[in-house]
Formats: sequence, structure tokens, C-alpha cells
Amino acid sequence: MNSISFKELEDKSAEEILQWTLNRFGNRAGIASSFGMEDMVLIDMVSKLDGGDITIFTLDTGRLHEETYEIMEKVRTRYGLTIQTYFPDKEAVEGLVRDKGFFSFRESVENRKECCFIRKVEPLQRALAQLDAWVTGLRREQNVTRADVAKVDHDADHSNLIKINPLADWTQERVEAYIEKHSVPVNSLHKKNFPSIGCAPCTRPINPGEDIRAGRWWWENPEHKECGLHRTTDQRTAG
Ligand code: ADX
Ligand code: SF4
Repeated sequence: MNSISFKELEDKSAEEILQWTLNRFGNRAGIASSFGMEDMVLIDMVSKLDGGDITIFTLDTGRLHEETYEIMEKVRTRYGLTIQTYFPDKEAVEGLVRDKGFFSFRESVENRKECCFIRKVEPLQRALAQLDAWVTGLRREQNVTRADVAKVDHDADHSNLIKINPLADWTQERVEAYIEKHSVPVNSLHKKNFPSIGCAPCTRPINPGEDIRAGRWWWENPEHKECGLHRTTDQRTAG
């Protein structure tokens, strides 16, 4: 399957795409994990595949929930995996909180994106510098901004990288069914109505009937709800 085109991979299952990733890139491929439900599915799947290691990395923003560290530790021990953690540049964080305080992200979309840049995007760039391909848990139905993500493509932001989204066409129900069937451990916040989990001050539980990402940056409009990790339809068309 090594010579298969990206277009042909669109018809393959998540497991087949992960196996292709492993065969083609080995540990030069990295799963970007915030240890949300989708990332736990990917970690569980990859742990059952043949042949070598894949890199697993996370961006620790310094503002994560305690429950997120608990699931990270469970992944380390249950799956016996090494998690490569990237922290923000300390001088950038020190400058941000000195000049703008500890909740600047509530004041404007610009300030929020500045915090996300310092705490997530710049560390992501350092993580990706070590890789040829990265795997994410992005799904098309998560948000308007994600409606056209491909399963495998060149990364629009990092031209030397391949971006792999094996669960692009999965529904929330399918993710939950996989977790149930394979007894995959998950962040305990999911049971408290947090279907999507980011930083603690920027994530709240959702109410019945609300969109699954309604609890992320809930004070912003849906078209802004990206932190800059993923270049998306709206950001591309906005020029
Ligand atoms: S976010 O951009 O809004 O924060 P979301 O929480 O939906 O993203 O996660 C989408 C995918 O982005 C995850 O499946 C994971 O691949 C990646 N991701 C998000 N946050 C992190 C993080 N802190 N560390 C590593 N990868 C992350
Ligand atoms: Fe900062 Fe909130 Fe973005 Fe986390 S999600 S990096 S706290 S703005």
C-alpha cells in the first residue's frame, strides 16, 4: 500500500491509514494528542498495529485541567508509551502574563489568539520540526471550520509535512462506540459533559442539545473557534 495516492487513501479505514503511516514514516510520524476522545481512539488503534513506534507528542500549555494530566499518565502506564511533551517558551509566557495578566484571552479574539500562539502554535512548530508527518484527531463534523479536512494531504501550513486525519469522516457516535467496545480509557471530564477539552479557563461543560464544541471559547463565534494549530477552510478563504 506504500505507493497508494492520497486520494485513494480517502477510501481506507482509520486502521489502514495508521498502518500506512507507520510503514511509511515510522517514528518520523507523530500523533498530536490532547488526549481527547479522538486522540485516545488513535492511540488505542496504533498500539494494536504491527511494526515499530510512532511518536506521540502533546503540547502542555500550562493551563490544562488536572484530569488531563491524569489521562496522560494513564496512557503512559497502560500502553507503555513515551509521551513527548512540548512546553511554551518560558520568556514568551513570562512576558505575556507580566504585560497582559492571566486572563488576557477573555478580552478579545486577538488576545486569545496571541495566548494560543504562545502556548500552542509555537511549541507545535518545534514539535513538527522533528517530523515528516503528523496525525491528528480532526473530524469534519466537529465545526464549520473543519468540514473539508482530507484524510491525508500535504499540510497547507507546513509544506514539507504530510498531515493525516484518520478519523476525518467519523461521527461522534462512532468515536464513542469504539471507546466503549475497546474499553479505551478517557479523560474523566467527558463524563461531566465536556465532549471537547482544551485549556481549563477556555473550556466549559456543554448543556443538553448544545454543539460538541460549544464549550470551547464559548464567548466567541464558531468561525473563530480555532487556536491556530490547524489551518482550516475559513482561515484559508479569509486570505
Ligand atoms: S483545538 O485546535 O480546538 O484545540 P481540538 O481540541 O479539537 O483542537 O483537537 C483537534 C486535534 O488537534 C486533536 O485531535 C489533536 O490531534 C490536536 N491537538 C489539540 N490540542 C492539542 C495539544 N494540546 N497537544 C497536541 N495536539 C493537540
Ligand atoms: Fe491560552 Fe485559552 Fe488558547 Fe489555552 S486555549 S492557549 S489558555 S487562549
